Amino acid sequence: MHQSRDILITSALPYANGPIHLGHLVEYIQTDIWARFQKMRGHNCWYVCADDAHGTPIMLRARQEGVTPEHLIARVAAEHQADFAAFHIGFDNYHSTHSPENQHYATLIYTRNRDAGHIAQRTITQAYDPVEQMFLPDRFIKGECPKCGAADQYGDNCEACGASYSPAELKNPRSAVSGAVPEQRESDHYFFKLGDFEPMLRAWTRSGSLQKEVANKLDEWFAAGLQEWDISRDAPYFGFEIPDHPGKFFYVWLDAPIGYMASFQHLCDQTPGLEFARFWGQDSTAELYHFIGKDIIYFHALFFPAMLHGAGFRTPSAIFAHGFLTVDGQKMSKSRGTFIKARTYLDHLNPEYLRYYFAAKLGANVDDIDLNLEDFAARVNADLVGKVVNIASRCAGFISKRFDGRLAAALAEPALFAEFITAGESIAAAYEKREFSRAVREIMALADRANQYIDEHAPWVVAKQTGREAELQAICSMGLNLFRVLIGYLRPILPKTAAESEAFLQIEPLTWDALATPVLDHVIAPFKPLMTRVDPQQITAMLDASKADLSATPATATAPVITNPHLERDPIAGPIDYESFAKIDLRVALIREARAVEGADKLLQLTLDLGGETRTVFAGIRAAYDPTDLEGRMTVMVANLAPRKMRFGVSEGMVLAAGPGGSELFILSPDSGAEPGMKVK
Ligand code: 2FM
Ligand code: ZN
Repeated sequence: MHQSRDILITSALPYANGPIHLGHLVEYIQTDIWARFQKMRGHNCWYVCADDAHGTPIMLRARQEGVTPEHLIARVAAEHQADFAAFHIGFDNYHSTHSPENQHYATLIYTRNRDAGHIAQRTITQAYDPVEQMFLPDRFIKGECPKCGAADQYGDNCEACGASYSPAELKNPRSAVSGAVPEQRESDHYFFKLGDFEPMLRAWTRSGSLQKEVANKLDEWFAAGLQEWDISRDAPYFGFEIPDHPGKFFYVWLDAPIGYMASFQHLCDQTPGLEFARFWGQDSTAELYHFIGKDIIYFHALFFPAMLHGAGFRTPSAIFAHGFLTVDGQKMSKSRGTFIKARTYLDHLNPEYLRYYFAAKLGANVDDIDLNLEDFAARVNADLVGKVVNIASRCAGFISKRFDGRLAAALAEPALFAEFITAGESIAAAYEKREFSRAVREIMALADRANQYIDEHAPWVVAKQTGREAELQAICSMGLNLFRVLIGYLRPILPKTAAESEAFLQIEPLTWDALATPVLDHVIAPFKPLMTRVDPQQITAMLDASKADLSATPATATAPVITNPHLERDPIAGPIDYESFAKIDLRVALIREARAVEGADKLLQLTLDLGGETRTVFAGIRAAYDPTDLEGRMTVMVANLAPRKMRFGVSEGMVLAAGPGGSELFILSPDSGAEPGMKVK
């Protein structure tokens, strides 16, 4: 028996503004395999995660969809959790950073650090969008590259020539939110004094539990000097307000990793006997691991441990960084159809195929891993279907038909069984070190050995000969016992197939320790196929669906989701693409004059001011409005509608109104602050 360890494991929290894709799944599958392995070993192991729900992109995305951020994050959380469940990611708890627990810990960690003198205040100058009245993060400023002049480059690096620069160097900068020319404005910000923690961080780095690539990165950062970290953002911002600083919010990256604690607290609140302090207290002896992508090491290896330490919490035992996913050797690409959403994959392929393939490729380093689709099909078919499941299907029929499902009372070859059990030590060591590809290699070598045993004893030949009944039962029982051990070793990777195999063998859920005891003189259920082959056509269909999927989803805007029950989709017009929508020039207009039209009892003639330009529009709103009530009001108009000649004159546009019509019509108006002529987006 092994000593039972307390282990808390996390995966990085996905942003609540987009779907899970195969790139994300590398991490969730890697973490889930490790967590399932630890649980199977009998450890007190917990795996938690949450949605990362705060920040400017989520706020703007919600605005773009016409919903509240709370509404957006609730919808996305449900989608994320459905995708994770379908891929058998076995979180013990899934929470949100927009939660009371997270506000509690973010505030606590901030105030403790502040009171210990680790927070500084400074005034900084930043790009400001005068139309949206908000400060602009770098990625929301567009302009021409200062080096090569390429148009439409975002933030701080050029996609055309690769140059890096500061957003202030962009030529002809524009806000990506409103299109306005950004101004430079001052604002008070709060900074976390990371440098205060250098000795502690250096010691933590040397503790020996970090991957070599991560430790090297940290040494580079130490050499470059630890900078103060800006942890505040100005309103409008979707996040938690900073105590005593109204209008200032915690930057999303402050409360994101604290979300690990929030999710665990939420789990403790529902789990009798599970104590938060046992895992996070200063003197905790529990193991705490964060699985992350290599792009977010800085946050997890510097900021987070330092803030935890400054607030009297323990620091992580280690962080486990992994590389990125490529598909067929290249970055995932929308046009090639290799930017594959979890949901699109699930529409076409079995999630365990991907779990197995990733496991077969994953090591403990930060190297990128490649999903080669041809290799994917070949490997799943050869290994899982051809080798592992095949063992059971070759033996089970005889046991059911000839022996009423009963296995023999003794093992035919105890030495071979013992070999399988001994190999488990090395396989477990590989899992423990996150060398999943090695574990898979060793398991498949055993599967070859099991098939060789069956080939050598040819039960299909023995079955035809009289007087060899006991031998037949012994061979098939031996084969099924080897199958059981293999399924036990694969269980962290293939939880569904393992559960189905357990049902077929009529045994309890397998633990690592239970594997050494064979099942003998025991009745099993009739065999049902456990896994089918990958059909290359399913892969083609998935790529086609991904292409179709994403052509309807431009990078910056997803098809709007209609959430208001009063709105219905036009039953004839399908969804339009973004380009079509972007062609409509919507403007804020001031109604200077409104009057009834002689001879037209439904119409009002409006004179609209577009900030210098005047338009005449005939609008069918007479039953709903008294013309004098409209004068001086602001509304929204379609400014580039082709002029239409009517009986009473030319109509040069259209004002926007909602409702069924007649007296039930409501014209739209912008909030105060909007000026005539402003573009509506
Ligand atoms: O990079 C990301 O996708 C972040 N949402 C990861 C956050 S991990 C943790 F810090 F919350
Ligand atoms: Zn450039």
